[in-house]
Amino acid sequence: MTCHLLIPAAGSGKRMGGDRNKLLLPLLGKPILQWTLEAALKSESIDWVGLLCQPHDREPFKQIIGQILEQSNTSKSIALIQGGETRQDSVYNGLQALPDHAIYVLIHDGARCLATPDLFDRCAEAVKIYSGLIAAVPVKDTIKIVENGIVIDTPNRDRLWAAQTPQGFHVAPLKAAHIKGRTQQLSVTDDAALFEHIGLPVQIVDGEETNLKITTPQDLSIAEFILQNRY
Ligand code: C5P
Repeated sequence: MTCHLLIPAAGSGKRMGGDRNKLLLPLLGKPILQWTLEAALKSESIDWVGLLCQPHDREPFKQIIGQILEQSNTSKSIALIQGGETRQDSVYNGLQALPDHAIYVLIHDGARCLATPDLFDRCAEAVKIYSGLIAAVPVKDTIKIVENGIVIDTPNRDRLWAAQTPQGFHVAPLKAAHIKGRTQQLSVTDDAALFEHIGLPVQIVDGEETNLKITTPQDLSIAEFILQNRY
């Protein structure tokens, strides 16, 4: 049984300092999004990808998809789905657009262009066992809770993990979690938070230290360095 994959890619480039979708910025000669899609499609466990997209990005996204399909000669399908105002809205739209037979879904941020096919494979295997999971790595820094510039707490680092994507879920409970999140007007930055909110367990799968999310121009330089030194 293979997995369906949703890629939220319908954001903007505000923190990148630009006025266009940061996923269209070039990284070693091809758009960030192309790196993400190519890694995901190399995973044998994924045969359908839903790409969340804003209307003004449809054309450049179609071009990227066309190039990938031409180069890889794959029979996998990539569907463009209308993104929402927030990441949470985009994933909600993606869940509604999944084919009816979808049982397992992975969700992976378009901005995490360094995740390896191996990580997709591990998450796709694990989601057959666990109804909710996230790729994550233990936190190395000491984390402080701060209010108005003053530290108010220092949580024990042994229990802190940095959440990444892919995150994987059984489709039915994830849909229920998203619907409840909307009804209660919860605003979250990952899907696992909604799953946790309805009391369902979320399993940790070992993530990758290099699986960073491209957010600032500096991240782009780091990603370039990682890719140049890979393999
Ligand atoms: O802004 P940030 O990088 O945290 O967003 C995480 C992912 O969610 C990105 O890949 C971005 O394109 C996506 N996103 C989305 N729809 C939005 C906002 C963000 O699909 N409305």
